[in-house]
Amino acid sequence: MKQLLAVLIMAALPLVASAAGDKPCGTIDCMKITVDATDQPSLQRGAQTFVNYCMGCHEAKFSRYGRIASDLGMPEELVMENLIFDDSKIGDLMTNGMTPADAKKWFGAGPPDLTLVARSRGNDWLYTYLLSFYTDPTRPWGVNNLVFKDVGMPHVLRELQGDTECKPAYAIAANGGVKRDPLTGIPMEDPEHACGRVENIEGTGKLNAAEYEQVVYDLTNFMAYMAEPMKEERKRLGVYVLLFLCVMFIFVYLLNREYWKDIH
Ligand code: HEC
Repeated sequence: MKQLLAVLIMAALPLVASAAGDKPCGTIDCMKITVDATDQPSLQRGAQTFVNYCMGCHEAKFSRYGRIASDLGMPEELVMENLIFDDSKIGDLMTNGMTPADAKKWFGAGPPDLTLVARSRGNDWLYTYLLSFYTDPTRPWGVNNLVFKDVGMPHVLRELQGDTECKPAYAIAANGGVKRDPLTGIPMEDPEHACGRVENIEGTGKLNAAEYEQVVYDLTNFMAYMAEPMKEERKRLGVYVLLFLCVMFIFVYLLNREYWKDIH
């Protein structure tokens, strides 16, 4: 019985660890994202946004264009045309030409490699970060971020999202939901958090809020895939391994019975 208990506790440990490992998003609650590594069209759009808008500064130097092409079901010619803008070859690592010294001079902090950022920071953190840039004229790039205070990165997707304003956070009701005005049903603001929520100024960017969220979803989805390209394969293999163990168990059990049959 004790052994069984020990096994159960061991099995539950990863659950506790993953709950404790949740990254808080600065001063606000993380928005939740459910990534889907089987959604190839989303991953392809995300890859395109990544090379277009991020790789000017960031590298993904533990990833290769060719691997992404085959995992995302993209023909190599399409990748050469749409994802590679320098003289890289399909088998090359996803690097750029920015030297760390220049990066330090321009941004104060060097743009870190992004191959594994979805794992180090968490998908929810990344998603919330990309949705949390707001206009702040006191900062060198004119923007700040609710998740990453005084970030050195400009709001590179601004042409898509447009301008954003920081608004007071919504007040939280006793039941944990958003507190609403009992008469009008309009969410009430929490004056204690003068800057706790980012709101788009419609019409200042190429996309509306929903379209922008989709772009950020695809981008985060892609970065989550890039941080763990084996995930789908790992899940598929896991099923086979468990099936194998089940079948194996029958034979081992029978063998065990055979061995012990005459000993009593
Ligand atoms: C103009 C250069 C530039 C571009 C383009 C750029 N970034 Fe950044 N990024 C930076 C810099 C600089 C930092 C470091 C900020 C700091 O430490 O204050 C950074 C930091 C980050 C971080 C935080 C990493 C960490 O764990 O600390 C993430 C995530 C990130 N960038 C994602 C992106 C994504 C996604 C894109 C494309 C949509 C992008 N960046 C495009 C310059 C850039």
